[in-house]
Amino acid sequence: MDWSKLAFGYIKTNKIICSWYKDGEWSPLSAEGDDRITISALSGALHYGIEAFEGLKAFRGVDGKVRLFRPDENAKRLKRSADFLGIASPGIEMFVEACKRAVIENIDFLPPYESRASMYLRPFLIGVEPQIDLVSSKEVLFAVAAIPVGAFSGKNLTPARMLLARDHDRAAPMGTGSYKIGGNYAASMLAGTKAKKEGFASILYLDSAERKYVDEFSSSNFFAVKGNSYITPDSPSVLPSITNKSLIQLAEDFGMKVEKRKIPVEELTEFDEVGACGTAVVITPVWEIVDKSSGVSYLTGDKDNPGNISKNLYRKLTGIQYGEEPDDHNWCMEI
Ligand code: PLP
Ligand code: COI
Repeated sequence: MDWSKLAFGYIKTNKIICSWYKDGEWSPLSAEGDDRITISALSGALHYGIEAFEGLKAFRGVDGKVRLFRPDENAKRLKRSADFLGIASPGIEMFVEACKRAVIENIDFLPPYESRASMYLRPFLIGVEPQIDLVSSKEVLFAVAAIPVGAFSGKNLTPARMLLARDHDRAAPMGTGSYKIGGNYAASMLAGTKAKKEGFASILYLDSAERKYVDEFSSSNFFAVKGNSYITPDSPSVLPSITNKSLIQLAEDFGMKVEKRKIPVEELTEFDEVGACGTAVVITPVWEIVDKSSGVSYLTGDKDNPGNISKNLYRKLTGIQYGEEPDDHNWCMEI
């Protein structure tokens, strides 16, 4: 395999780890060689979007060890999404065990350290009970797929252009935005595909109640740097990102002040650095945010060079993940 050519795309690997929930019990985890599963055509997931998912990565370290980054946090977030949908979810131990097995069964697809690529794990829950009535599914499939991935869009740490969403919203304030469920992504799919064709890496959403404040990108959180402050939105419709949570800690470790607060759109003119952060995008510096409706273009960074704080945060975070930096907060779980 040519690891240097890896993008963020699906590649069939050896095994997918599965467990079925029925009659109040999870079946033992099994490793399936076929990624085509058999479910009822009337499954709640297919008709009513009863689906929740997670994303985390496994890394081959400089010392040859394999590390998972904060899988317990993903387990807790999946449970939160499942509770919102009213479906069963695995406990932390079962979740972590399934992730470890997904890596082990697909170990020949784990990119080597030198490639700076990683293995993306996609745990998910789907309601598989056949139904037409509007109730939560009592039958659920929990599965974890493992896919080798490179940078999300192009090259890591390359400054990107973003499009400001002015003609549609992603999630309502008391709705689904803070949950990692399929429907949120369906709501941003068409606009995102169009934006990508126009050369934008992603869409920046505003709060959908007032459309005054920055929320997040379609697949990542928003952060900004102003002086010695790390600033990120406080909003009920933003996904609680595990990467952002980690960067907040690292910014504090660097001696920065952390501000979690509302960010008015106009403030985009005032930042020293802006970035998108998440498992898939890691840290993507943002150099321009375009508001087509008003013709305003917010220049939020240097087109050719990432800002210094973004670069330092990126190095520290990926250093911990690849075993190059001390894991002072015990974030990594060795396999
Ligand atoms: N926001 C959205 C909408 C996402 O899809 C993701 C990706 O998981 C994130 C933020 C970043 O979350 P995390 O850092 O936990 O991957
Ligand atoms: C992740 O970063 O894990 C994501 O889930 C992003 C994905 C929606 C492309």
